[in-house]
Amino acid sequence: MRKKIVAGNWKMNMNLQEGVALAKELNEVLTADKPNCDVVICTPFIHLATVAQFLNQDVIGLGAENCADKVKGAFTGEVSAEMVKSTGAQYVILGHSERREYYKETPEILKEKVQLALANGLKVIFCIGESLEEREANKQNEVVKAELEGSVFNLSAEDFAKIIIAYEPIWAIGTGKTATAEQAEEIHAYIRSCVADKYGAKVADDTSILYGGSCKASNAPELFAKPDIDGGLIGGASLKCADFKGIIDAWKK
Ligand code: PGA
Repeated sequence: MRKKIVAGNWKMNMNLQEGVALAKELNEVLTADKPNCDVVICTPFIHLATVAQFLNQDVIGLGAENCADKVKGAFTGEVSAEMVKSTGAQYVILGHSERREYYKETPEILKEKVQLALANGLKVIFCIGESLEEREANKQNEVVKAELEGSVFNLSAEDFAKIIIAYEPIWAIGTGKTATAEQAEEIHAYIRSCVADKYGAKVADDTSILYGGSCKASNAPELFAKPDIDGGLIGGASLKCADFKGIIDAWKK
């Protein structure tokens, strides 16, 4: 059975003290009132080692928001997958549209990152999703399929099992515009069919596909009720304990 997951993507928010305070609050709240799904927080690199020391990782997993496409060496400012893993983190987000757009991460670069993350024992939350222009031209299926083919469909079935897919329509990220539950379900089902074509029905059935893009406590229950939506990747609403908990609790409804 595939996992239900709610993952937070803090992005470039919160200094060390603020981040530690939020992680502590979440740790307390979710240890006291156990979630009905897997919960992950993906934080800036600088938080990882500190947060890993106190986080109850049976209840909350920890992840990075990126890692390098090189193993090690003279790459000033980069953080390798091995370094991420050595902090105690277990996950890494790769392929986020902000990385693709602002930092020019190509499918080839992402393919390298995915391989290095897996080689270092990290689980990958791999993001795909179309722009508004592509959606208006009805090209969303083409776009998500190409993103899968470009960076993760080269993996063996065994490695692909360590991938969590996050479908995030770019037009819904941080905009307050959520895809309707029907729109999201339609493309999630399509994504699952692409996985089935490539790896077979069993692998497709076991793959968690998260929705991301202005997901909040008010719309999460409707989204998560859909058969092919296995949870969410949450940006803005992961920055406050009550907001994030509200989305996690959608799995209890
Ligand atoms: P948002 O971001 O929830 O703030 O729209 C989601 C994401 O980019 O992962």
